[in-house]
Amino acid sequence: MATINEIAELKELARRRVPKMFFDYADSGAWTESTYRANEEDFKKIKLRQRVLVDMTDRSLESTMIGQKVSMPVALAPTGLTGMQHADGEMLAAKAAEEFGVPFTLSTMSICSIEDVASVTSKPFWFQLYVMRDRDFVINLIDRAKAAKCSALVLTLDLQILGQRHKDLRNGLSAPPKFTPKHIWQMATRPGWCLGMLGTKRHTFRNIVGHAKGVGDLSSLSSWTAEQFDPRLNWSDVEWIKQRWGGPLILKGILDVEDAKMAAQSGADAIIVSNHGGRQLDGAPSSISVLPHIVDAVGDKIEIHMDGGIRSGQDVLKALALGAKGTFIGRPFLYGLGAMGKEGVTLALDIIRKELDTTMALCGKRRAVDIGPDVLYRE
Ligand code: FNR
Repeated sequence: MATINEIAELKELARRRVPKMFFDYADSGAWTESTYRANEEDFKKIKLRQRVLVDMTDRSLESTMIGQKVSMPVALAPTGLTGMQHADGEMLAAKAAEEFGVPFTLSTMSICSIEDVASVTSKPFWFQLYVMRDRDFVINLIDRAKAAKCSALVLTLDLQILGQRHKDLRNGLSAPPKFTPKHIWQMATRPGWCLGMLGTKRHTFRNIVGHAKGVGDLSSLSSWTAEQFDPRLNWSDVEWIKQRWGGPLILKGILDVEDAKMAAQSGADAIIVSNHGGRQLDGAPSSISVLPHIVDAVGDKIEIHMDGGIRSGQDVLKALALGAKGTFIGRPFLYGLGAMGKEGVTLALDIIRKELDTTMALCGKRRAVDIGPDVLYRE
């Protein structure tokens, strides 16, 4: 196999290894995908300041996210259906993240359950919560995350109503996959993926099994979401969840200064500036373009992370320069997973690590924690 040097190459490999409906699920945004594209394109507009004759020995990417030590400030974002990119995908990604020394966040909408992931990891991972109308089920999820010793709860706020992704509807996406001639063809042309799936029993949303009656294809998933996800979710619920959870709480999906101010008063430990990777409100601004405004407004009151569009270590450096304490990646690790399983997730992280290290050095910084606005070139 040719050497893989960048995330874009992992993406192309994943395209060849993963059935189209599941590859498209990762590589899609809402409606026209304008926000999905803007997330990536706006990073390219930010220029870096090249510095010379600075001693660059003994560099370090180590940092902290919500006070927890990380080998670099890059966490794996929660992604639903990860176990459909590769058999047992969440377990493999969690293990890769653990070995790399970065946080893994397990989505409520995972194929592998909280308990599955806990069974293969020895360090705590993070759990992402969607709030359902059925509060007993929410309590059950929180208690299971506690029992699994998860070290942070990531509460996602931007998907109480599901944004529409055209590709998923066209593809008739489902978990477990359907067996129509089209789907059988998509799977049969990806034999490596099929073999993996034959070797596992994890084919459906195991965190919500029992509550996900009727979830077959994605059109029923969107009606299931409408039935189950609580559209009345509000700031008082955040308080209730914080108390019930009792540990570090991160609010995900903040994209507006006013919401960031509310979040800073909510008692949460951190926020993630995010538009769900462009999968929810098409037409919303990119995360990186909003980040500096949120940092200006609440940067001294709450820890700020960001995600959306990070495709290289350079993008990580730009986010840190604009005031993020940490970053999250979604698709980059999913492409790695789809392309090569656990090894691919490690490779994605390693590519980002090397790019971040080299860029940091060429910008005249030796430590990730010292990266600030002075690494950015301003006309
Ligand atoms: C997501 N995201 C997401 N977020 C969340 O809170 N819970 C979830 O279950 C999911 N599911 C999901 C599936 C897939 C396939 C993708 C690509 C994304 C959003 C995710 O956590 C993160 O915000 C984005 O992925 C970040 O953008 P990039 O890195 O993918 O550009």
